[in-house]
Amino acid sequence: MNKILVTGGAGYIGSHTCLQLLKEGYEVIILDNLEKGHQETLDALGKIGSYEFINVDLRNLDELRKALEPYSFDAVIHFAAYLEVGFSTRNPELFFQNNVVGSQNLLQVLIEKNILNFIFSSSAAVYGTQKSVPIPETASMQPDSPYGETKLIIEQIMRNYAEYRSMNAIALRYFNPAGAVDELPGERHIPETHVIPLLFHSFIDDDFTFSVYGDDYETADGSAIRDFIHISDLADAHVKSVKYLQNMSGFEAFNVATGKGTSVLELVKTAEEVVGEKLNYNLGPRRAGDPKELVADPSKIMKEMGWDAKYTLKDMLSSAWEWERQRDLADYSK
Ligand SMILES: NC(=O)c1ccc[n+]([C@@H]2O[C@H](COP(=O)([O-])OP(=O)(O)OC[C@H]3O[C@@H](n4cnc5c(N)ncnc54)[C@H](O)[C@@H]3O)[C@@H](O)[C@H]2O)c1
Repeated sequence: MNKILVTGGAGYIGSHTCLQLLKEGYEVIILDNLEKGHQETLDALGKIGSYEFINVDLRNLDELRKALEPYSFDAVIHFAAYLEVGFSTRNPELFFQNNVVGSQNLLQVLIEKNILNFIFSSSAAVYGTQKSVPIPETASMQPDSPYGETKLIIEQIMRNYAEYRSMNAIALRYFNPAGAVDELPGERHIPETHVIPLLFHSFIDDDFTFSVYGDDYETADGSAIRDFIHISDLADAHVKSVKYLQNMSGFEAFNVATGKGTSVLELVKTAEEVVGEKLNYNLGPRRAGDPKELVADPSKIMKEMGWDAKYTLKDMLSSAWEWERQRDLADYSK
């Protein structure tokens, strides 16, 4: 399996996966409509190796079919989606259209082309609020948002194509990706809603104050707990999944996370150590739908694929800080 189509390859996680695929000698085709992705990211990837680029929107089935017609490839890694949870609660129809219809269009064209190896960006959001942690893949799934619902629906579609269309399909359920590498632009979501970019933004911009949402959770310091994973470890899980697909059949889901919980207040403290400055932050009320603790049990991917997280929280925050320092202040308010 050597030629890989990567949808959403101009985005944060897709581009870091393309970087590792190119470094390992895979042939890469990137498909992206650049609605949320960045030309600078594609340019940076071009310095690592050559790849083909298809600019098409997954929501348009006819255009998608036409665009993929000249290409052959062995497997697909499908990142392209909308991902901002709050936006999904205000605009659920846009999420079902982009994430579910877009994915179904892609899967339909793949089945027509008899390309049956598929890796999908799922999310911890499929689990919703759980009674206990760490969360294994077998936990019940009750998403707390339309975003999480879209991921669960796509997993169900994949299960059906695995059963009735002989598709080999892997869903990787990521917890909280973070960090950066020297070769590529780092995390850059517009609008920026992710905790680590917002945390560093408040060190850089005197007009912006970081908020810790909730200090009255039943946790050691009262703030919510999340499981952060370095972007390079996450990219590595995709490359390992491409290899794993060759020896599996059907549908499999894997958590991708470290299994270590970090509270938001611990995150602030580690960021202060990295920057070498104290931070003035706000303590705000809990946000609706924010679970107390989201920590994965990653033992399945460790055992089955031999994957392991190599990077620490300090590595994630130091590399993210290097990236955020270069970022244009106007970028955060777009
Ligand atoms: N970043 C996270 O915290 C996180 C956590 C769990 C899961 N995920 C999932 O990982 C995937 C990638 O996330 P990311 O952080 O890299 O996001 P991103 O916004 O940086 O990248 C998504 C890319 O997909 C492209 N895209 C979106 N809709 C498209 C369409 N209809 N047609 C063609 N291209 C389209 C965008 O232009 C963008 O380049 C998403 O599926 C997301 O749900 C992300």
